[in-house]
Amino acid sequence: MRPELKPYQPLQTQDGSLTLVHPVFGEAYSSRHGAWMQANELYLKLTQTHQHPAPRVLEVGFGLGVNFRATLEDCLKRGVFLEYISYEGFPVSRGVLASVELPLSAPSQRIWASLLKRWPAHPQGSLCLKGPWGRLEVRFEDVTAALFPAGWASAIYFDPFSPRVNPEPWQPRVLEKLFLAASSGARLATYSVSGRFRRDLAAAGFVVSKVPGVGKKAWTLAEHP
Ligand SMILES: C[S@@+](CC[C@H](N)C(=O)[O-])C[C@H]1O[C@@H](n2cnc3c(N)ncnc32)[C@H](O)[C@@H]1O
Repeated sequence: MRPELKPYQPLQTQDGSLTLVHPVFGEAYSSRHGAWMQANELYLKLTQTHQHPAPRVLEVGFGLGVNFRATLEDCLKRGVFLEYISYEGFPVSRGVLASVELPLSAPSQRIWASLLKRWPAHPQGSLCLKGPWGRLEVRFEDVTAALFPAGWASAIYFDPFSPRVNPEPWQPRVLEKLFLAASSGARLATYSVSGRFRRDLAAAGFVVSKVPGVGKKAWTLAEHP
C-alpha cells in the first residue's frame, strides 16, 4: 500500500510539539521526548550551528522540516545567512507537511509558508527557496545514490529513521560520502548510539563521541578533524 493511502498518525511529543508516525516505517519523525526540543538541542546546538557565523547544513531526511525550521528560526534571530541542503527520498505531501505546525516567529512562518506554497504535488529533482535569509535546497533523492557537495558542510544533521527499519542511509558507503561532504571541523549529530554505526563513522574518518542526550538517552557526535 502506498504510504499516502494510509494515515500518518499524529503524536504529541513531551514538549508539546507535534510529530507524525510514518505509516510504513512505523516510527515517529522526531523524538517522543520532544520534536522541537530534539531539533534545537540535538541538531542545531550539538553541531554548534547556533554559533556559526555562516552555517552550511547538510541534512539526511528532510521529513517534516522540523530541523530546518529550528535552524531557520535561530539564523533569522542572529541575522546570519543560512545555506541548507536536505535529502529526502520519500517526501510527504504538502498537506501532511502543513499539518505539523511549530511555534515560529512571523518572519520564519512567512518563509515556511512560501515553501509550502511551492512544495510540488509530485516531487522530483529538487526544490530551491532563496531569500535575504539564505537558501534551502531539498533534493528529492535517495542518499545512497546521491552525490554530496565536496568539503561543503559545516554541520550534518543525520536524521533517517532508525537503522532497524531504515538501514540503507546508515551504510558505511553513505558515511564515507558524508565525511567527504564535511568541511574541516564540521560536526555531525544523530540520535542513534548504535555501536556498529559509531565504529563505521570512525572508519569513515570522523572522531566520534557519545554525549548525554535527554533523560537516559545518549546521542552521537562525530567531528571532522
Ligand atoms: C526521522 S525522519 C526525518 C525528520 C526530519 N529531519 C525533520 O526535521 O522533520 C527520516 C526521514 O528520512 C527519509 N529517508 C529515509 N530513507 C531515506 C533515503 N534512503 N534517502 C533519503 N531520505 C530517506 C524519510 O523519508 C524521512 O523523511
